[in-house]
Amino acid sequence: MEDKRKQLIELLFSNKEDYISGQELSNRLNISRSAIWKHMNELKNVGYEMEAVTNKGYRIIKVPNTISEQALRWGLDTNWFGNLINYKPTVGSTQTIAHELAREGASHGTVVIANEQTMGRGRLKRYWDSTFGLGLWFSTILRPSSLEPKNATQITLVAAVAIARALVKHEVDVKIKWPNDIFVGDLKLAGILTEMQAEQHLVDYIILGIGLNGNQGINDFHPSVQEKATSIYQVTGEQVNLNHIFQTISKEFEQMYELFLEKGFGPIKLIWENYAYKMDEWITIKTNELWEAKLLSIQNDGALRVKDEQGTEHTLYSAEILW
Ligand code: BTN
Repeated sequence: MEDKRKQLIELLFSNKEDYISGQELSNRLNISRSAIWKHMNELKNVGYEMEAVTNKGYRIIKVPNTISEQALRWGLDTNWFGNLINYKPTVGSTQTIAHELAREGASHGTVVIANEQTMGRGRLKRYWDSTFGLGLWFSTILRPSSLEPKNATQITLVAAVAIARALVKHEVDVKIKWPNDIFVGDLKLAGILTEMQAEQHLVDYIILGIGLNGNQGINDFHPSVQEKATSIYQVTGEQVNLNHIFQTISKEFEQMYELFLEKGFGPIKLIWENYAYKMDEWITIKTNELWEAKLLSIQNDGALRVKDEQGTEHTLYSAEILW
């Protein structure tokens, strides 16, 4: 039963511009016309919208708001990002699965995406809240053949720029908080976790993990992050289609990544600066002591440039910043 429904969706998806007749569906799936009709009704119940035209047949016109491999793929306009999509309802962490697949040789652009993570992780081994069905939790395998390991941290900034541009297309105005956070006002909307496997001068692969809060109400967040996090729904007041957001991010990332590999970090840096959180503002930095500095920019290697109260400029690679 499940299997037939899956096949039916696949058939409808593979014909997405065209109608496919009830008779053809029945032949291809080897079930009766009335069985097809029952499946169609089930699909409607879970949020698919179908158009049925006499003498032509059926066509999908809208996918549900929950993610699935087919819905993610439907309308995905990329050359390599998401060529393979491994969708899982529940996982520990998509990062872990992506590492396993990469070690087994999975190709550039392979995506692991889940509806829920029970052990989602952020930078510095922090916990990442990934409630079932309310956000995008995905990890992508990248195999940049010409990137030196020392420049791999720039991928985080490339991804931040791509996410920011994608969200602006969905009318969410965001800022990038160096190095890996996407903010709306003073609340975190998304985070990026870049992990790399490399040998001396060669990047073997990079796992780019993106977590984005989509449809959470405030009480859907774990109490420990309720005061720090936000979602697209909370910002815009409207539920979003996570499949569409995934597709826009994928497209933007592919473009930014190619620009980066072709032209270097320069053009990315320029875009980054347009979205920078607290640009030209004073921030507190924690090294051995606490000190104040003005945020100037980022360097070509992705490090942060700041100016202290005496006017001396500093480069920060990993300092803790009390924003
Ligand atoms: C951070 O803000 O510190 C980074 C958060 C990254 C979360 C994503 S969700 C998909 C992928 N799987 C994980 O376990 N983490 C990343």
